[in-house]
Amino acid sequence: MADKQLIDPATAETLTYGSYLRIDDLLSLQRPRSTEHDEILFIVIHQVYELWFKEVLHEMDRARQLLEGDESYRAQHTLKRILTILKVLVAQLDILETMTPLEFLTFRERLEAASGFQSDQFRQLEFALGLKSEHAIGRFPEGSRARHALERRLREPSLWDAFLRYLAREGYPVPAAHLRRDPAARVEASQEIQEILIKVYRGDPKNSELCERMVDLDEGVQEWRYRHVKMVERTIGTKRGTGGSAGAEYLKTTVGRPAFPDLWEIRTKL
Ligand code: HEM
Repeated sequence: MADKQLIDPATAETLTYGSYLRIDDLLSLQRPRSTEHDEILFIVIHQVYELWFKEVLHEMDRARQLLEGDESYRAQHTLKRILTILKVLVAQLDILETMTPLEFLTFRERLEAASGFQSDQFRQLEFALGLKSEHAIGRFPEGSRARHALERRLREPSLWDAFLRYLAREGYPVPAAHLRRDPAARVEASQEIQEILIKVYRGDPKNSELCERMVDLDEGVQEWRYRHVKMVERTIGTKRGTGGSAGAEYLKTTVGRPAFPDLWEIRTKL
């Protein structure tokens, strides 16, 4: 069996490592705008991030479906995988930090107004968690792939919505207003939900573990934000961003913003 040739049904050719993974296409996607040595690193890192964002979104959809199907152990397993990817995403910033401010300046102006602000997959990730913002969609051209994807995710229930509905099915008195909330609205802290979560933590080991995996995920995203702003500070100081924001000053306002505020609020009350 080992030497049996695999035929790719799409091309009717023998399947190889290169044809399966589309290596030729992949290696043709790095198109620097300068001849500066470090620009390739900058492009590769961003492309790798976008690929991991794609995988994280794929797993987030899975985690939501599993919760909707009351498969909480399998949902936890998926959340663990997402967290492991987030750790890699944070660690990757170390590589970019080997690029000095002067090395970055050799090609920064070639980036023009291109910026991480325009990463629709990062916004999709925020939306999938429950950090919704209709305003953020406005940056993406109408009719584009990015705009369609964000509009869909804005209206779709988030992981938090699926979690609340799961808790209701587990017998917790989640108020109807939360179960029927507008999925396009940002998740706000709620006293009633916090009371339920305190009960979960005190008497329900299965579901308190699930809560902990949700906190892991939230903390993982916050960790990325913190490391990104530190990297930005050490690379461009307090200069404005290519996307037009105040740069590190703006990014600092997003650090520590939780996706699941109730899961953080209850820590003090436990
Ligand atoms: C030298 C490296 C980098 C610098 C100097 C930098 C700088 C910045 C700045 C100044 C902003 C604020 C928006 C703006 O005005 O442009 C920003 C936002 C952003 N960057 Fe970076 N960045 C770097 C690398 C990365 C990498 C590797 C990623 C990975 C995908 C990334 C993803 C993002 C995202 C998603 C945002 C939007 C964050 C938000 O609005 O909460 N950046 N970046």
